Amino acid sequence: MRRPILAANWKMNNLTADAKKLCAGLKEELSGLRDRDIVVCPPSILISTVKDALAGTLIGFGAQNMYYKQSGAFTGELSPDMLVDAQCRYVIIGHSERRQLFAETDALVNLKVKAALEVGLTPIMCVGETKDERKAGKEKDIVGGQIRAGLKDVKFESPLGLVIAYEPIWAIGTGETATPQDAQDMHAYIRSVLTEIYGEETAGLMRIQYGGSVKPDNIDELMACEDIDGALVGGASLEAKSFARIVRFSA
Ligand code: 13P
Repeated sequence: MRRPILAANWKMNNLTADAKKLCAGLKEELSGLRDRDIVVCPPSILISTVKDALAGTLIGFGAQNMYYKQSGAFTGELSPDMLVDAQCRYVIIGHSERRQLFAETDALVNLKVKAALEVGLTPIMCVGETKDERKAGKEKDIVGGQIRAGLKDVKFESPLGLVIAYEPIWAIGTGETATPQDAQDMHAYIRSVLTEIYGEETAGLMRIQYGGSVKPDNIDELMACEDIDGALVGGASLEAKSFARIVRFSA
């Protein structure tokens, strides 16, 4: 079994006091767990608060986005080096909200994934189809295309250093989760695309998270699926007990 990776994407939520409280709760609930990777991705302005609040735990943290250039006149952006300097280990790249609301393309996602790997960050590259695309039976074409374009010429040292998150857009924040069977089908398909790109051994080691209305009451059945190696959690990560229950899934 691949080492599970459970990540919290706080999105644009929480102020300093909320972040401290949430991290204190996670510390209490999760400090002893060593057999899985746990990641918290707060808004960037809270990264140093989260770093301090999680000090002494095995809980990692990261950013929700970054630019691909290392410095320069890019008002409002953060560079890969800045995230490393802030001691991030992870960065979410190409979340569907970035793609849909901020016009991020596969080509930009590809540049960001490469830039993250170059400085030793672990990118969590998000892919996923819309409801209409699924209705039209195009979900595998869409997701396969996102994977191939996002990973074009992407090389890495360790298969554990790049994570894919499959997040069907229709399941994000809607309470409508993909059935474990639908999620597993897509994850197996993603792994087959990764096999084409990197070969069977490497693809077999890479982790693919599911995201989209993951909750304490559906995580166990999702994690029981062969190709689901973790979760990227939005809403349910904003409460320590519910994220802790997700992290402590039993499959
Ligand atoms: P929800 O868990 O709120 O559906 O969000 C999923 C997501 O977008 C995580 O990145």
